[in-house]
Amino acid sequence: MDESTVASHPAVGQADPENMLPPEVRSAAYRRRPIGVFDSGLGGLTVVKELVDRLPHESILYFGDTARVPYGTKSPETICRFSREAGRFLLGRGVKMIVVACNTASAYALNDLESKVAVPVLGVVAAGARAAHRASESGRIGVIGTTGTIASGAYERAVRTLRPVVEVHAQACPLFVPLVEEGLAHHAAARLIAEDYLAPLCALGIDTLVLGCTHYPALRQLIGDVMGPGVRLIDSAEETATDVAEVLREHDLLAPCSQRPVRVFSVSDLPLRFRHVGRLLIGDMIDAVERVEVEGNLSATV
Ligand code: DGL
Repeated sequence: MDESTVASHPAVGQADPENMLPPEVRSAAYRRRPIGVFDSGLGGLTVVKELVDRLPHESILYFGDTARVPYGTKSPETICRFSREAGRFLLGRGVKMIVVACNTASAYALNDLESKVAVPVLGVVAAGARAAHRASESGRIGVIGTTGTIASGAYERAVRTLRPVVEVHAQACPLFVPLVEEGLAHHAAARLIAEDYLAPLCALGIDTLVLGCTHYPALRQLIGDVMGPGVRLIDSAEETATDVAEVLREHDLLAPCSQRPVRVFSVSDLPLRFRHVGRLLIGDMIDAVERVEVEGNLSATV
């Protein structure tokens, strides 16, 4: 596909009437609809990979906002606006559920999205916090994420809801996202940066570290090497896939086992680049990548 190809998404228009129906009267076709997944860029592909392993019959529509990555350095208002636009795009394509496969957007925009859309919406923070709570024996938990996610305090809150007496040590790692987006996860520079960011957490004696950004599983081996064998790494993508399966079951939205899944990848810029680096991350399940416009029409309800 040519980098300049633009596939404009159809207008959302009226709210989809079938979204409002109780599960028992929805058409079989509704259950076959894709799960919508979005992230600022490539990171959400780590969630897609887990979804495909866990729910192989489900179709997926992925949106990576590559024109505006990173989200982690933006204001809460901007992150909410970008998230609404992504949600609106996915709903316009008829998804049956939205997975916010971005910790930053989950931290700031999940409640806003949930209040505006008629399909189930799931983020990644609660799942990661739950897994960390289960894994930690000492109650000393580290969290790494974007500047925005760490500033939001979302992980601390989520962990403390589950375990009130706990030490949560948070560390922003702003250069990790560009390293992954640039395909430099295995570059020597990545190790130097990881050693620098993670040194304070190593010194604090944590036994569990949450990879609180969906880009970070791409650096998992490196982070594990730097932290050492005594620290368990929590990938919220795995936990999120379990939650998605649960939500689909609860809402009677699981696709039939006979379904041949279709996986569509959309980005707001540079589809060829996304395809290239995305395939390094999750392999050849990424075939064509389309470029779409999602900006504008800000007053519209998603
Ligand atoms: N992958 C995203 C997250 O989980 C966002 C990274 C960014 O755009 O800064 O936070």
